[in-house]
Amino acid sequence: MAESGGAGRGNCCCSFIFTSGLTALFLWLSLRTSKPTCSVQNFLVPSLNKTDNSTTTRNNHTIFFDIKLDNGMKDKGVHYDTINLTFFYDQNYSFPIATYTVPGFYQGHNKHTSRKAVVETNGVPWEAAFEAVSNGSTVAFRVGLATRVKFKILVFYTKRHSLIVKADIPVNDFGKKVNKKGIKLKSNSPHPLSHRLRLEFLGVIFIALIIFLL
Ligand SMILES: *[C@@H]1O[C@H](CO)[C@@H](O)[C@H](O)[C@H]1NC(C)=O
Ligand SMILES: *[C@@H]1O[C@H](CO)[C@@H](O)[C@H](O)[C@H]1NC(C)=O
Ligand SMILES: *[C@@H]1O[C@H](CO)[C@@H](O)[C@H](O)[C@H]1NC(C)=O
Ligand SMILES: *[C@@H]1O[C@H](CO)[C@@H](O)[C@H](O)[C@H]1NC(C)=O
Ligand SMILES: *[C@@H]1O[C@H](CO)[C@@H](O)[C@H](O)[C@H]1NC(C)=O
Ligand SMILES: *[C@@H]1O[C@H](CO)[C@@H](O)[C@H](O)[C@H]1NC(C)=O
Repeated sequence: MAESGGAGRGNCCCSFIFTSGLTALFLWLSLRTSKPTCSVQNFLVPSLNKTDNSTTTRNNHTIFFDIKLDNGMKDKGVHYDTINLTFFYDQNYSFPIATYTVPGFYQGHNKHTSRKAVVETNGVPWEAAFEAVSNGSTVAFRVGLATRVKFKILVFYTKRHSLIVKADIPVNDFGKKVNKKGIKLKSNSPHPLSHRLRLEFLGVIFIALIIFLL
């Protein structure tokens, strides 16, 4: 098998594998996408603010939120479909206390934006909540975010991917989110994404092989 022609073919084969490997890696890196990061930057519940004991504030059953949406990709845009926000109180996840929709929009490379609003709530047991924070405990609100995003690579859009994340927000007797830092909204299932990326990687290698064989 050690003929001179065979050695030539071997070299050729090596550089072929090397080049297609590099191409596959390059394609994979340039097509790879990551979903935007969402975090609760601010969350206020005036009615639970013990310091402000006016009856108008105590009977103010609104919540104020400020949610940051962050596209960390340096070379790809994100288009958000209508974003559904759903709020819950204290593990009562069968009964939303408030909902809010953010109209869809496009977000450029490496951009972040905030969406904030005051929303009226329904069904929060305010007396019990106020008693709990007055006693020095915190009460937990939850926000769930659901939308679909597609990524813009150069001038092309990818197909849509669903973005479903949530976070629990502990609130204290200042009627304020306890954590100073933003609270990141997380998905229930982080695994399918990396699985999908592996599948895409294999697909790209396969395509690169076919291109080089032609
Ligand atoms: C709570 O009420 C006090 C007194 O009115 C006010 O100074 C403070 O800003 C309020 N805190 C929040 C988080 O609204
Ligand atoms: C309301 O708060 C002020 C100061 O925080 C306090 O002086 C006053 O007694 C409070 N009133 C009631 C009814 O708790
Ligand atoms: C109720 O609280 C919100 C902030 O969450 C504030 O914007 C609004 O003016 C308050 N309403 C009243 C009637 O005090
Ligand atoms: C959930 O909230 C609704 C509305 O306030 C209430 O009727 C229901 O009893 C709550 N469920 C639990 C398990 O707290
Ligand atoms: C708050 O404390 C009072 C007495 O200090 C107690 O009777 C009440 O059950 C407590 N409430 C909560 C929600 O922990
Ligand atoms: C958002 O809510 C609307 C109306 O309830 C619904 O049609 C849509 O499918 C929801 N979007 C997502 C991503 O869940």
